[in-house]
Amino acid sequence: MSHDHDPVPVTARTGGPLKGRVRVPGDKSISHRAMIFGLLAIGETKVTGLLEGEDVMRTAAAARALGAIVHHDGPGAWRVQGVGVGGLREPADVLDFGNAGTGSRLMMGVCGSHPITTTFDGDASLRKRPMRRILDPLEQMGTVVVSQQEGGRVPLTLRGPKEAIPITYRPPVASAQIKSAVLLAALAAPGETTVIEAEATRDHTEKMLAHFGAEITVTPEGEHGRRIVLKGQPELKAAPIVVPADPSSAAFPLVAGLIVPGSDILIESVMTNPLRSGLLTTLREMGADITVEREANEGGETVCDLRVRASSLTGVTVPPERAPAMIDEYPVLAVAASFATGTTRMRGLQELRVKESDRLAAVEAGLKAAGVTCRIEGDDLIVEGSGGGPVRGGGPIATHLDHRIAMSFLILGLATQQPVVVDDGAMIATSFPSFIPLMNGLGGQIG
Ligand code: S3P
Repeated sequence: MSHDHDPVPVTARTGGPLKGRVRVPGDKSISHRAMIFGLLAIGETKVTGLLEGEDVMRTAAAARALGAIVHHDGPGAWRVQGVGVGGLREPADVLDFGNAGTGSRLMMGVCGSHPITTTFDGDASLRKRPMRRILDPLEQMGTVVVSQQEGGRVPLTLRGPKEAIPITYRPPVASAQIKSAVLLAALAAPGETTVIEAEATRDHTEKMLAHFGAEITVTPEGEHGRRIVLKGQPELKAAPIVVPADPSSAAFPLVAGLIVPGSDILIESVMTNPLRSGLLTTLREMGADITVEREANEGGETVCDLRVRASSLTGVTVPPERAPAMIDEYPVLAVAASFATGTTRMRGLQELRVKESDRLAAVEAGLKAAGVTCRIEGDDLIVEGSGGGPVRGGGPIATHLDHRIAMSFLILGLATQQPVVVDDGAMIATSFPSFIPLMNGLGGQIG
């Protein structure tokens, strides 16, 4: 679907209040990592709750091409027989990651430190995304970038060294993908590799390294940062992985429940890892009625049943240091802000320009097309809310091969005067294949 598909326009319109309970699919970040750790471990890794979206399926295909045996046992249930650190097989073909930034960047870390040659490619969106941020530390570790497109873009080919060099690395931007690529590459290097983050980003890779038996220490660094030290060349041992529900997918029914008048919904077992919970913090500051009905532990993460009721929201300023904890949620936060009373200023969003699309530009253009007053000032997005009054709607909204832009604007259309049409809903399958039936099961009108 992610290569040269025919666009599939999708429309959302206002209906009655949303009611009922839902569980969103497994976390995308953890699902990619489950396949990658399964590949790098000795033994059989059993995974439950895996997200079976197109992005993760690309990572599973890459794991197979690198030597893993991957079985699908039933919905969300997978087994991966790994080859162990150092045991990767050189793939016969190009590794095509489709739309998946996480899968491709983490696998560049894995492959780049092994003595094999690998070629990475993807769809038109992935071909625009910057990979230099991954190639720079890999080159320090001894990887040769055999070929690349301008600015370090895919398609690109890596050749790994006989033995990778351990490094100390400070990612120039707050990015879990850069951190993870370096840590995964460091598995094949002797000695200690250190990653120093100025701002803490999602910690799924670190948690999984410990879970699979690697020696890793994480200590605070400065006001918001972390120092991560990993001892290389461990024997990773297969361990079971339970994938909790994805908070970045839960964000869509969550915001819908807040903006569709009269709604009262329950979203089950949402992962509330603090490094992923910036949206919840922000929505609560805006006055959202979100209560925790149950708390439990799933796969080493706290999960909560969240009850969400339609709420009058108030505009807030979102500080830049919160961005890593809600980086994928700004488009749908901007939708919530469109209905708030007053101005919402989202600060420090430069990284949104290099996601599946330029999300700053896509959100601004889409909101304007739907009659919302908004603007970009530097790296900030400013949305003037309707103060509880109507928001017009309209479209078609240009989604630029970006699943989260498509879903965010369909959520907007559940509460606008006129329907909202997005130009292409096909990319939703990359991260949340059940989005439309799930939303319609709550009473939404998307189709
Ligand atoms: C991810 C990290 C984030 C996020 C992406 C998933 C991950 O990207 O936007 O959807 O799983 O590590 P960056 O590291 O580029 O911020």
